[in-house]
Amino acid sequence: MLNHVFATPVWRAKSGLTGEQLGEIRDYLIGVREQNPSDAKSNRGGWHSQGNLFEDEHRQFPFLRDVITRALFAYIGEAFGYRGEIALALTGWAVINRAGDYNVPHNHASNLLSGALYIAVPPGMRGGAIVFQDPRLNLNAHYTENMRRLGIQPPWANTSISVTPEAGEILVFPSWLMHFVEPCQSEDSDALRIVISFNATI
Ligand SMILES: [Fe+2]
Repeated sequence: MLNHVFATPVWRAKSGLTGEQLGEIRDYLIGVREQNPSDAKSNRGGWHSQGNLFEDEHRQFPFLRDVITRALFAYIGEAFGYRGEIALALTGWAVINRAGDYNVPHNHASNLLSGALYIAVPPGMRGGAIVFQDPRLNLNAHYTENMRRLGIQPPWANTSISVTPEAGEILVFPSWLMHFVEPCQSEDSDALRIVISFNATI
């Protein structure tokens, strides 16, 4: 029997937010962007909100908290096997990228779970994936020319996994998992890639 040890659970699902709700969040965040300068975190270009979107000043979107909490509980149920009541401490922020903006590799230290809720994705987006990097070290076991020729590929041959998001999708992953965001391009150079990122601890 083959066991996959040290697997990394990553949750990907439709959030269930309607187009109307996504549009409402998008417009609100664009308004916040107009009023506030960008924070400087992993973003290169683009705009990164300051502070915590789950604090009192941003109480406009109870459905936002609901879908994020639901995804976190689904993850905790599936990955940890725990289905009781828990109080989660949430922090959230928005990142708005235009064509060419990106986020450098980082993780979300000192948290338990992290994730991303995609509010808007440029139509026909090229690039713009979130890329997860294999956390295992020294994945340099022999991968020879003969193996390549025969099409033999060990499951650790790809050291990153790209997820090209759709608007309304939500991801949850361990906070220690390194990731970055590719620059995006689209026919419409004004189109925005808008994500709400979040951290949770218990
Ligand atoms: Fe991140």
